[in-house]
Amino acid sequence: MTATLMNGTALAARIRAEVAVEARELGSAGLATILVGDDPASEIYIARKHAAATEVGIQTRDVRLPASTPEDEVVALIEELNADDSIDGMLVQLPLPKGMDEVRVTHAVDPIKDVDGFHPVNAGNLYLGTPLHIPATAWGCMELLAEYGVEVGGADAVVIGRSEIVGKPMAILLLAANATVTICHSRTKDLAEHTRRADIVVAAVGRPWLVTPDMVKPGAAVVDVGINRTEHGLRGDVDPAVAEVAGYLTPVPGGVGPMTIALLLRSTLRAARYRRGLLAFRGN
Ligand code: GUN
Repeated sequence: MTATLMNGTALAARIRAEVAVEARELGSAGLATILVGDDPASEIYIARKHAAATEVGIQTRDVRLPASTPEDEVVALIEELNADDSIDGMLVQLPLPKGMDEVRVTHAVDPIKDVDGFHPVNAGNLYLGTPLHIPATAWGCMELLAEYGVEVGGADAVVIGRSEIVGKPMAILLLAANATVTICHSRTKDLAEHTRRADIVVAAVGRPWLVTPDMVKPGAAVVDVGINRTEHGLRGDVDPAVAEVAGYLTPVPGGVGPMTIALLLRSTLRAARYRRGLLAFRGN
């Protein structure tokens, strides 16, 4: 058996095309990104976000600050962008430089503009089943499962990783779609025991090829969120040999990565609609 590869590049291109049409209808939408420091991976992600936004007709502002910037200055800049009417969506690229308070910085973003969905108002509304802004990576994983007809309702789903950015929102979205969800992490006693029972496995821990074929139930859907730069090149959290056992598998690259950016663009249009009163934002 060989898994069907879930092609994120193709689905993301379709979503971007939809966003482009909606952006034209809306007239204008603006996205600001803030990158503090010079993390090489973050620089690549930011460049991709800007290229994709520009391609669909979203105006962008690319703010770069040195790693040495005082936290107060980063917060002041965010407040300036909160007040700037030309900016609909805003994100602070993570991770922030060592010593900078990620909680304080991400909480400074106006929830209506928080296209990452990391602000407590958005995280809380996701938790409560009344989502406003949904974290893009987890949303992208759900869209891929839907696109390939993977049944989530009633499925046993295992999420490996409990980060605020991916693991937790992923578990909440799967639960909202009626999966039976288990969250595994570094202190889980027997990871394979959990994954072997799962109909859906989402790996989001940043450990190259952690999930091996013996850990996967035949026919399961496996979503690989990992992007690990190793001496052997780019590796996901899932050993590609899992394709011999799984029913569905996202490739790395070309799976979840492009989806994150496409859903960020969709969130930016959603922010623009919230701000224009075209959609109700019940977050304040
Ligand atoms: N770093 C890794 N993933 C993300 C993301 O989705 N958004 C932001 N802002 N930073 C990230």
